[in-house]
Amino acid sequence: MIQDILTDGIGLPVAKHSLRKGIILAGGTGSRLFPITHSVCKQLVPVYDKPMIYYPLAALMLAGVRDILVIVNPEDIGLFSRLLGDGSQWGLDIYYAEQERPDGLAQAFLIGEEFIDGDPVCLVLGDNLFHGDGLADLLLAVSERSEGATIFGCRVEYPERYGVIDFDGDGVALSLEEKPEYPKSNFAVPGIYFFDHKVVDYAKMLEPSPRGELEITDLNRLYLERGELRVEILDESIVWFDTGVPDALADATRFVQQIQQRDGFKIACPEEIALSQGRIDRSRLGDALAKYQGTPYGDYLETL
Ligand code: TTP
Repeated sequence: MIQDILTDGIGLPVAKHSLRKGIILAGGTGSRLFPITHSVCKQLVPVYDKPMIYYPLAALMLAGVRDILVIVNPEDIGLFSRLLGDGSQWGLDIYYAEQERPDGLAQAFLIGEEFIDGDPVCLVLGDNLFHGDGLADLLLAVSERSEGATIFGCRVEYPERYGVIDFDGDGVALSLEEKPEYPKSNFAVPGIYFFDHKVVDYAKMLEPSPRGELEITDLNRLYLERGELRVEILDESIVWFDTGVPDALADATRFVQQIQQRDGFKIACPEEIALSQGRIDRSRLGDALAKYQGTPYGDYLETL
């Protein structure tokens, strides 16, 4: 509703309760991409013409997030800060935190407790890519919810590789299972999740799973058991890639190449998103133009 829409001072329309904070989880082992990720961290590997982390970063920007915590392995912090800086070039505030060991996705909320500081937060996995016409509207709509958690369901061929959500005939979520041997549905839960202010308290209630990780599926189940979990189905207009295995990485690369060549626009160009959302003005783009002058990326920025 019109009266619920405010602007945040730089022209970006935000809802009253809209979410300001997001976390990108960019640690982990990346063992399914070995030897590529043996000595390079996964989220810096290219997906066509950009580092992988640009894609989840773009998703957070589309969701209207302003403050971003990037959680990384201790040895990689310098690489990420060299790439992303403090975020001001894109009208963001980017912070960094270390995860000592890959002890699970839900550990993000323990590591990020101070950053979250009792606010709602969106978590996106550093190797997930989302694209589609309705994506920004969907993410913005979900980010306006101030209570409970929202996750997504996406129809996949091999649900046993993912967290799987099962529904009743009315589309109400019945169960959530992590990589089940016998999946109850074909709907996987992609790596973007919206949580309310209770997320840190719920994360503190979790015990490590049999594989020794604090599981995001267990966290989502806490919301489900309390009737506080909403599930949005991603329709065919939205494409999702979990780029953590070689075939998916190759598919995602081909997808980005084909769509960009067809449409003439870049997917997940943070400068372009920042400009279109009014996070930065044209003069701020000058820094990026200078940095990338004479490169294909710089040529694209010239056209904006
Ligand atoms: P995964 O792909 O599940 O795990 P991984 O990256 O360690 O890869 P592999 O299974 O091939 O060894 O992780 C999804 C995303 O979350 C990815 O961006 C890495 C990140 N992650 C962390 O940052 N910390 C963790 O403890 C885990 C498990 C993953």
